[in-house]
Amino acid sequence: MMQKELFREFDGYDRIVEERDFSRKYGLDYSAQKDLADPYIQRLHPKQLALRVSDIIFETPSVRTLRFVSPEGYLPPFLAGQYIALFLEIGGVRTSRPYSISSAPNQTGYYDLTIRRLEGGLVSNFLLDSVGKEDILQSSGPEGHFYYNPLFHDKTMVCLAGGSGITPFMSMIREAAECGLDREIFLFYGNKNIREAIFHHSLLEISDHFDHFHYLPVIEDPPAGYIGASGFITGELIRKIIPDLGDKTFYLCGPQAMYDFCLPELERLGIPGRKIRKEVYGPPVDITRAPNWPGQVKADNPVRIKLAAGRTVEARSGESLAAALERQGVLIPTLCRSGECSQCRVKVLSGKVFQPAGASVRRSDKRFGHVHACVSYPLEDLEIVI
Ligand code: FES
Repeated sequence: MMQKELFREFDGYDRIVEERDFSRKYGLDYSAQKDLADPYIQRLHPKQLALRVSDIIFETPSVRTLRFVSPEGYLPPFLAGQYIALFLEIGGVRTSRPYSISSAPNQTGYYDLTIRRLEGGLVSNFLLDSVGKEDILQSSGPEGHFYYNPLFHDKTMVCLAGGSGITPFMSMIREAAECGLDREIFLFYGNKNIREAIFHHSLLEISDHFDHFHYLPVIEDPPAGYIGASGFITGELIRKIIPDLGDKTFYLCGPQAMYDFCLPELERLGIPGRKIRKEVYGPPVDITRAPNWPGQVKADNPVRIKLAAGRTVEARSGESLAAALERQGVLIPTLCRSGECSQCRVKVLSGKVFQPAGASVRRSDKRFGHVHACVSYPLEDLEIVI
């Protein structure tokens, strides 16, 4: 079929051609102004930013907030709940990590990133031990979709946070309190013990002064005599605090175990899926414990990844493709590292990868063998195209 005839098969093609011809004849030639928008786009959505550490704030024994300012004096705006990815080089390995911004978007002077030390965590240990005041780091611009949108979301937010999953909520809560927004926010915040609850005192203080914010810490291992909610964030607890669950949007951010527990609880409460928003939270710490992982494949199973460019890299089944490639100096673009932003798409020509539930790829990507390298694990030798 001729190319032109093929286009005619698309619904509305003739009407578009008609409108194009009309615009060509009577409209303005916007193509001449096309480049005028570029500086504004670059200013609002820069691909890369330089950030200077202006302060380091102690939060808990294992958590610090790094406060970043711009050496040029300008930071692009963001929406409460968004993240930036830090681009780092650690011991010769170039990598990136996304961190939600915990400061409020209504102040434009700095971004706060609140970082918890992970046992054996390459990046968190580097940031907490080797980065000091005045150091300059590189980052992406603000990214992500975990924010309140007045067009689609209910005015009452029910937030379920676990551990360092508090950070995007802190930005939302600070903004609502500082700007006096008429949004109502319920926060259920789960931690092992109260000492690990990041921002606990600030949250108590905000809830004391801002009527629309309701804070409920939920402690897994409470000490004897502890008065307050304990155990996990159950449906029963949510209903006890919020008897009427209608017209509310639920937001979740925390470790995978929290999603595994809380999502069925919300389902039992009858909350429809469209009312539940989940922040991506990085790949699982131990992928071999993910549902449907093939039990016969061990985390240290050695595999070889052949790149179309000719090079072969060594990997292990328990390590994501992105991490294995980065470790051996093969750079692929990454932002969210959770299978959401599609920056790290690679095409698998042969071999099998494991993708945990929720690692979403577009239908057409699936059809043509594309996967997200940040949440794909090689089960056998692979051949890929980056
Ligand atoms: S880095 Fe975002 S999908 Fe992999």
